[in-house]
Amino acid sequence: MTTDTDVPALVEMRGITIAFPGVLALDGVDFFLRPGEVHSLMGENGAGKSTLIKALTGVYTIDSGTISIAGERRSFESTADAQQAGISTVYQEVNLCTNLSVGENVMLGHEPSGTFGIDWKGVHEAARGHLTSLGLDLDTRSSLQSHSIAIQQLVAIARAMVLDAKVLILDEPTSSLDRGEVEQLFAVIRDLKDKGVAILFVSHFLDQVYEISDRITVLRNGALVGEHLVEDLPRDALVTEMIGRELSDLAALSSVADREIDRSGDPVLRARGLGRKGVLDPADIDAFEGEVVGIAGLLGSGRTELVRLLYGADRADSGTIEIDGQAAKIHSPRQAMAHRMALSSENRRAEGVVADLTVAENMILGLQAQRGWLKPVPKAERDQIVGEYMDALGVRPADPDVPIGNLSGGNQQKVLIARWLATQPELLILDEPTRGIDVGAKADIQRKVAELSAKGLSVIFISSELEEVLRIAQRVVVMRDRRRVGELDSSAVDLDGLIDYIAHAEEGSVSR
Ligand SMILES: Nc1ncnc2c1ncn2[C@@H]1O[C@H](COP(=O)(O)OP(=O)(O)OP(=O)(O)O)[C@@H](O)[C@H]1O
Ligand SMILES: [Mg+2]
Repeated sequence: MTTDTDVPALVEMRGITIAFPGVLALDGVDFFLRPGEVHSLMGENGAGKSTLIKALTGVYTIDSGTISIAGERRSFESTADAQQAGISTVYQEVNLCTNLSVGENVMLGHEPSGTFGIDWKGVHEAARGHLTSLGLDLDTRSSLQSHSIAIQQLVAIARAMVLDAKVLILDEPTSSLDRGEVEQLFAVIRDLKDKGVAILFVSHFLDQVYEISDRITVLRNGALVGEHLVEDLPRDALVTEMIGRELSDLAALSSVADREIDRSGDPVLRARGLGRKGVLDPADIDAFEGEVVGIAGLLGSGRTELVRLLYGADRADSGTIEIDGQAAKIHSPRQAMAHRMALSSENRRAEGVVADLTVAENMILGLQAQRGWLKPVPKAERDQIVGEYMDALGVRPADPDVPIGNLSGGNQQKVLIARWLATQPELLILDEPTRGIDVGAKADIQRKVAELSAKGLSVIFISSELEEVLRIAQRVVVMRDRRRVGELDSSAVDLDGLIDYIAHAEEGSVSR
């Protein structure tokens, strides 16, 4: 580990400034990345992290400042150009050819050739060698798309190694990985670090940042706030630097999970034996008026599958649903909407952003669909709704008329959550609502959910962050291996208890 500041930086960015119309995205930022370190870039949604990466990799042209690589002044015209110079980037959305094989992806453009063109045997042998050196045992002839996002990201890293990357950039690589997959990724990162690769890491998961980083640079509103060795920066100090104030308001939420729910009448939603062959074993779930029901379980445990069946996004082949005590047929999202249900999916960005529409237009889309396209939402109502949610969720920039594509990743997510809140559902299903969202905005979203449920909204809340589930849900349904394994009263269990339950419980050991 070389966290020594005396080691000359491999990447030196000085005084980097980038302005977009109306936004100074980066304001004279200095950033130094040293060989053999994992350096995390931290900051709220919209702080400028992705922009700094794009400045380095030639996606954006800088307005002023200088970039040097290994002491030499550089400016890249494109990512390909940056890649040539040894800088590889792995994004959350994997930018590989998913229809090609694993081996072809690793070796793309660097295939060994024989007498008759490409030496395919050689391609797969070389690819296997690279994967093995990263501790991965994969069939190189399997198609990339047959693997999880986690594996695809690791393949992207193997590819970066073929390109002989000296700098590896990971912009929120971990937001869709489960615990085991994150461990696998981290093992690879540590290995590369030992080989002297300089690693730039961006994540909103503080635990992960503290586990993997040697150094942390904090940005706020496009400006550099500080650079620290990780051991010199306690978490509360980091959060304070990121958001410019102390995060004390979360404490005020601690009572939400203890709120008494009246479960004497008919629930807003009652599903019995809801399942689909090969997807989810028949499962039960209820949600009463004003209740937040959490769903906990590892990635792939069936959480998303369950809510997609509830919402009619996928067709159930067994089970019944009642809404307010009445049997209901929900075979499509349209029918779900007619029953005043809303689902904010975990793939919000991929499924929901209409890039060339404005923030306001994107936010109002759900409401408009609900009312029908022939009845435009009146302007005054629209402005009122948009203003309310921009404010409640802290969307930045707070300008409803900019194209949503101009917003940072996390701010786009907030707009899509607002889209479903604006339909004023009776049952709101949120699948990983705070993924990719910074600590301050997470608190805003939790507060909004608590406030709306206190007024009677029923919420089904899926999150991989179990602390969050325990803080805002009164009841937690636990899933494993695509079936429901039980249900807990969240005031009767702590974090360790919930983790243990997720790992070991069997239905029948239900504790209430
Ligand atoms: N192409 C663009 N056009 C206009 N503004 C942009 C563009 N890209 C980014 N911005 C603005 O620049 C600022 C920094 O955005 P950036 O994407 O770098 O944030 P971030 O720190 O990566 O946030 P997140 O954690 O949400 O991913 C934001 O105000 C954003 O709205
Ligand atoms: Mg970003």
